Amino acid sequence: MHTIVLATQKGGSGKSTLAIGLALAAKQAGFTVRLIETDPQGTLSNWARRRSNDDVVVEPIYHAADIEPRLKMLADSGLQLAIVDTAAGLSAATTAAIRHSDLCLIPARPSVADIEATVSTLSVARAWKRPYSFVLNQTPIRGQRIDNAAGALAEEASLDLAEVLARPLIVMRNDHQDSLANGLAVSEFAPNGKSADEIRGLWRWIETRLELEATTNVLIDQVMSVADGMLHAAAELAADETTTLAS
Ligand SMILES: Nc1ncnc2c1ncn2[C@@H]1O[C@H](COP(=O)(O)OP(=O)(O)OP(=O)(O)O)[C@@H](O)[C@H]1O
Ligand SMILES: [Mg+2]
Repeated sequence: MHTIVLATQKGGSGKSTLAIGLALAAKQAGFTVRLIETDPQGTLSNWARRRSNDDVVVEPIYHAADIEPRLKMLADSGLQLAIVDTAAGLSAATTAAIRHSDLCLIPARPSVADIEATVSTLSVARAWKRPYSFVLNQTPIRGQRIDNAAGALAEEASLDLAEVLARPLIVMRNDHQDSLANGLAVSEFAPNGKSADEIRGLWRWIETRLELEATTNVLIDQVMSVADGMLHAAAELAADETTTLAS
C-alpha cells in the first residue's frame, strides 16, 4: 500500500481539496483508495456527507498513536492507496502521518507566507527521512509569481526544481470550489475541464514518484542484504583463520 500525506503549517493552502481530487483521480485510474482525516475541522467528512455516492470512504483518525496501526491494518487488508489529510499547523497526528508515509506532499500557494510555512513540514519529512514534494496550488495561469515561488521552494530544499516540485502546477479555478461544495471531486464535477486534467496529471506524477521510491527501496534492501551476506562470510572466514592459527 502507498500512503500519501498532505501537510503544511499554512491553513487554506489546499490540503483537503488536493486530497479529495487525488483520491478520485487515483480511483479512476484503478486504485482502491481510502481517505484518512486527521483534521478535526472535518472538511473531508463534511464533503463525504454532501456526496451521494459512498464509493470513497473517509475515515477520521484524530489520535497520533492510532495512525500507524490503522495504516498497517489497511495495508494488510489489501488497500492500495491511503491519502491522509492533516490540519494546518504541526500536530502530533500530522507528524505521525508524515513519519508513516511513502510521500509527503506539501501544498503551497505562490505567496511568501505559504512558502515560509512549508519549512517546518519539510524539516519533519527530512527528520524521518520521508520523500517529499511541494505542490504549487491556486496559481495564476502563468507569470513571474509562479517562477519566483518555484525558485524559492527549490532554494529552501537546496535541490533542483525538478526533484522537489510536483507537476503540473494546480491553477486557481472555480471547479475546485464548486466540486467541494457538491460532494464531488473535480474529475467528477467537470471531467473534461482543465482542473480535472491537472489533477489527473498530478496523480500520474505522484504514481511515478511512488514507483520510483519503491524500486529504490527494493534496490537498497538488495544491496544491504548482499552486504550483510559478505560481512557474515568475512566474519566466518576470520573466525576460521583464528581457530586454525590457535590449533
Ligand atoms: N486550485 C484551487 N483553485 C481554486 N480554489 C481552490 C484551489 N485549491 C483549494 N481551493 C479552495 O481554497 C479553500 C481552501 O482549500 P482547502 O480547504 O483544501 O485548504 P486546506 O489546506 O485543507 O485548509 P485547512 O488548513 O483549513 O485545512 C477552499 O475553499 C478550496 O475550495
Ligand atoms: Mg483542510
